[in-house]
Amino acid sequence: MHLRSIEFQMPDRQAAVDFLTDPWGLREVTTRGTTTWLRGTAGQHYSVAITEGAERALLSATLTGTREEIDGVYRRVREAGLRHSEWIDRFDEPGQGSGFYVSGLEGEPYRFVVENEPAPDALPTDRANPVRIAHVVFNTTDRAAASRMLTDVFGFRLSDSTGFMNFLRCDELHHVIAYADSKLSTLNHVAFEMHDTDAVLRGMGRLKDAGWGTVWGPGRHGPGDNVFAYFVGPFGACIEYTAEILRVNDSYVTGTPDSWKFPSGRFDQWGIFTRDMEAMSASNSTFPFHRLITG
Ligand SMILES: [Fe+2]
Repeated sequence: MHLRSIEFQMPDRQAAVDFLTDPWGLREVTTRGTTTWLRGTAGQHYSVAITEGAERALLSATLTGTREEIDGVYRRVREAGLRHSEWIDRFDEPGQGSGFYVSGLEGEPYRFVVENEPAPDALPTDRANPVRIAHVVFNTTDRAAASRMLTDVFGFRLSDSTGFMNFLRCDELHHVIAYADSKLSTLNHVAFEMHDTDAVLRGMGRLKDAGWGTVWGPGRHGPGDNVFAYFVGPFGACIEYTAEILRVNDSYVTGTPDSWKFPSGRFDQWGIFTRDMEAMSASNSTFPFHRLITG
């Protein structure tokens, strides 16, 4: 199972599409009706969908897998009594997948999809543009409960737990979903994988040329060991370029808060840049969850 895409609703779709294509570096797959789909260089149908709508909302974070994997999650979702949609035979989007929506404990919107069309070819690797979605982080008021849902119902593994975040995986990537302690139940940020650290820096340069500075980074995280650079886009959400995320297997020993201690005043391994806490914290309230599932 893999994290494939994220789906947003926002009032000014075109401004977001313009930013996410140039300078951010995604490419438009298609636009139909009120929705535009964008992709990175990975061989995936798409990475981001943006639907025009009156209010900003996170519609879903989409995981894809085999029919057997997704059937298994669907069965456990029903057994656990989580709020979910019925099985949907065809999503009207690139890939034409089938699957279902399920709300997390605080309404965080997940969608599980079996793709029914072969994925497109990957585009040539470059050192400029995002490859795919790397991870999504949610703010949560109950990190332990949210993590248990991912491990027990969705079949994730806990990779690391720090003083305020849990990092969870469903494939070889150290984390694809993380939960951060908060008073809010909202989107924290979305990360896009870049080919390497050089590509993160080149991306930063392109953003700088276009008038967009980082709100944090470049730096290198502790858990996951990934290089990062965070920005707040014109749509208000925090988005990240990342690279070199740790690949793990079953032998990875789950980290505890004691596993990651930075020197005083440091929040990452490099310690080059401080965070713009005001901008980052303002971004935390921009994308509430959209409750697609009723009843
Ligand atoms: Fe991140």
